Amino acid sequence: MLSLPAISLLALQALLAVRATSVQQNLAQDALAYTLALGAPILGFDVGCSQTANTCDWMRKFSDETKLVHMNLPGTHDSATWNYSQATQDSLLRYTGPIPAAEFFRCQEHSLFQMLNGGIRVFDLRFAYNPGNDTLGFHHSQALLAPTTTVEEVFFGLYSWLDKHPTEAILISLNYESGTGTPDDAKLQQHIYNIMSSSLASRYWVQTSGSLGTLGEARGKLTFLQRFSYDLIPASATHRIGIQLAPNLWTDNSPNITLVYNTITDQIAYIEDYYEIGLPIGAGFAENIQWKFNATTAHIEEATTMLHPDQLYISFASSEHNVDIPSETPIIMALGNGTDTPGVNQKLLPWLQARKGKRFGIIMLDFFDSVPGMVEAVIGL
Ligand SMILES: *[C@@H]1O[C@H](CO)[C@@H](O)[C@H](O)[C@H]1NC(C)=O
Ligand SMILES: *[C@@H]1O[C@H](CO)[C@@H](O)[C@H](O)[C@H]1NC(C)=O
Ligand SMILES: *[C@@H]1O[C@H](CO)[C@@H](O)[C@H](O)[C@H]1NC(C)=O
Ligand SMILES: *[C@@H]1O[C@H](CO)[C@@H](O)[C@H](O)[C@H]1NC(C)=O
Ligand SMILES: *[C@@H]1O[C@H](CO)[C@@H](O)[C@H](O)[C@H]1NC(C)=O
Repeated sequence: MLSLPAISLLALQALLAVRATSVQQNLAQDALAYTLALGAPILGFDVGCSQTANTCDWMRKFSDETKLVHMNLPGTHDSATWNYSQATQDSLLRYTGPIPAAEFFRCQEHSLFQMLNGGIRVFDLRFAYNPGNDTLGFHHSQALLAPTTTVEEVFFGLYSWLDKHPTEAILISLNYESGTGTPDDAKLQQHIYNIMSSSLASRYWVQTSGSLGTLGEARGKLTFLQRFSYDLIPASATHRIGIQLAPNLWTDNSPNITLVYNTITDQIAYIEDYYEIGLPIGAGFAENIQWKFNATTAHIEEATTMLHPDQLYISFASSEHNVDIPSETPIIMALGNGTDTPGVNQKLLPWLQARKGKRFGIIMLDFFDSVPGMVEAVIGL
């Protein structure tokens, strides 16, 4: 039998252990808050969801057995550009030098957290070195989006959102952004490889390689769409997750890409990525928008027919014709020029609503929530 002092000693040890645990929990909470603040220029702030929002946890309604390739997944094109203003560009001129105006690069208006709470489940992120060629950050072509925010910080934000929304699945398309004036070297590839192969990543990223599985397997996790290659790092670095959409097979500016991402199981991504409208100079907003609308709807139409029922469809509704006079910037293509010429998004909304219940696949949007009801129409809510 234990003597009285021995019992109190055990009780004291237990008490201290509880205290140590709660101190650790406080420390972890503060460390996360600190990291999220560093990530805020790209993540924004998670203010949570309103009770009435049906987009916050919309995947809850779908069964675990649902294949991802059968789902309608709203995404954002160049997701990280949401806060890229002329003021931001001007403040970063010392790194970028003079580049075209901010409106040519900006494709979104609301933050990554707002996108997540608003139902967006596919993100198009483009990385390259931050100034100093040491940490990895986010760019859109020559535009540097946030000079000190890192890929790691932004991933922490996504992990923390998933912890709060365990029924949801997020797809992350990562692309090496060229044209930034920063080096594309082995150190950069090793850095991103190390992030994707870390023990933390093994908890938060779907580990299957070469195919997309079911919603049940993807819930509470990120699924990787790898749009860059590991061609500069040693061949011994073999850890691969998600699907590899090889950049050399992704035909630039094409309305119909057939990209085989698994030659053994014959897994194909059918992609519409016609982003730079090729009309003659001066054709005008309305005709540029009509061309893009045609390319996008032709592709989504094919997804609805179930011609290839178990293959992945990705349709980009985003576009520009920046060199036109006057320019069609991304916002003009997406939203038109005011009230009299509708943009791709206004035209797409009734088109999708008329096909409610059909398979659309992934639809990547610019200015995803500027036309109310757009995300719901993609999902089919
Ligand atoms: C967005 O950019 C503005 C500058 O245009 C800046 O003041 C603001 O802090 C940025 N927002 C975030 C969340 O970083
Ligand atoms: C980063 O790389 C660029 C392009 O190679 C180079 O011009 C610049 O000097 C480098 N910066 C640093 C801090 O090494
Ligand atoms: C777009 O498609 C519609 C319907 O198929 C067709 O009538 C129209 O000529 C097309 N317009 C352009 C600009 O391609
Ligand atoms: C895209 O190309 C494939 C292969 O050539 C073809 O089967 C399909 O019908 C095309 N889709 C569209 C929308 O043009
Ligand atoms: C929008 O574009 C149309 C067609 O190019 C033009 O007729 C109209 O004046 C423009 N409206 C505005 C508000 O710019």
